[in-house]
Amino acid sequence: MSFQTILAIESSCDETAAAVVRSDGRVVSDVVASQIDVHARYGGVVPELASRAHLRAIVPVVEEAVESAGGWPAIAAIAVTHGPGLVGALLVGAQFAKSLAWARGLPLLGVDHLDGHLLACHLRHDDDAPIGPEYPYVALLVSGGHTALYRVDAPDDIALLGQTRDDAAGEAFDKAAKLLGLGYPGGPVIDRLAKVGDATAFELPRPMLHRDDHDFSFSGLKTAVARAVETHEGPMDEATQADLAASLQAAIVEVLAKKAVRCCVREGVSRLVLGGGVAANRGLRARAAELCEKKGFELFVPPIRACTDNAAMIAYAGFFAEPGEVAVYSRSPTRVRGRFREDGTFIARK
Ligand code: KG4
Ligand code: ZN
Repeated sequence: MSFQTILAIESSCDETAAAVVRSDGRVVSDVVASQIDVHARYGGVVPELASRAHLRAIVPVVEEAVESAGGWPAIAAIAVTHGPGLVGALLVGAQFAKSLAWARGLPLLGVDHLDGHLLACHLRHDDDAPIGPEYPYVALLVSGGHTALYRVDAPDDIALLGQTRDDAAGEAFDKAAKLLGLGYPGGPVIDRLAKVGDATAFELPRPMLHRDDHDFSFSGLKTAVARAVETHEGPMDEATQADLAASLQAAIVEVLAKKAVRCCVREGVSRLVLGGGVAANRGLRARAAELCEKKGFELFVPPIRACTDNAAMIAYAGFFAEPGEVAVYSRSPTRVRGRFREDGTFIARK
């Protein structure tokens, strides 16, 4: 089905978002209401509070997205994230989108949140923004809940090549920041501290770096940071915290960037895309750029607003979805290693 313009709603975690996007990827409106203030005091996302905050935010957020896009006449369909994510949070967006589609007589499109992250590199927030990558590309998806490598041959032909066996990279940042008493979310704080710290001060492991696969593991790093904090005599001063932040970031970044570039080599693909909240990390961006340049690969890093959770990426992925019923799920039942599309052509990968 071909639509000209889609309104999308995203509520899978702790951001209530709505956006209007044209089929060429041009973002017409892009509204995000963050719940960071709601969850910060708990050091992580509290699902029930997330659902309630989505309920409060969804009407004004959608209204603003529609109004700043010039109203309803241009909108041809409504897309909504149906998973993976917090079920209660997803339900708020899905039920709202269903009602809106019914009331407006518009088709409803269910979109997988991860497809959104993998296609966010095609969004253009202004006319001067660079054009996204051609296909195929390898995508490193690094967020608070996911760390995985994908091969994207087309918007509807995506293969999962490897993923974390335990914690996501974002979780490692968040948990380390919590251990250091630096607040939530941890990624941006560690990123800032790492800039002034000495990355060689603490010797931390590079998990799975030398394994001949596309998998990751970050829970050991969290333990290593916990041990460094425990064994340190007295409370850590700011300089030592910065050293630990820099050492942790260097370990995470080295594994992510090296394995992503190695994945491109293996797949015979010369384009690497970064996506997800951790793609905002300055250390990761710099190291990936360095390694890609060495290999002559093209690197695509969307602007930060397109990396962190947003609805524009859901709208863009909506152009490749089929209209129909929307049922939410916390984990994708079909996303296994290999080709996960339900077209009967499952190709398992090692
Ligand atoms: O994609 P995202 O907004 O939400 C999920 O789908 O999870 O990612 C959130 C994650 C959090 O773990 C946060 O700490 C991390 O992205 N993050 C960062 C940075 N900015 C956000 N991690 C490292 N460096 C950053 N600058
Ligand atoms: Zn996300």
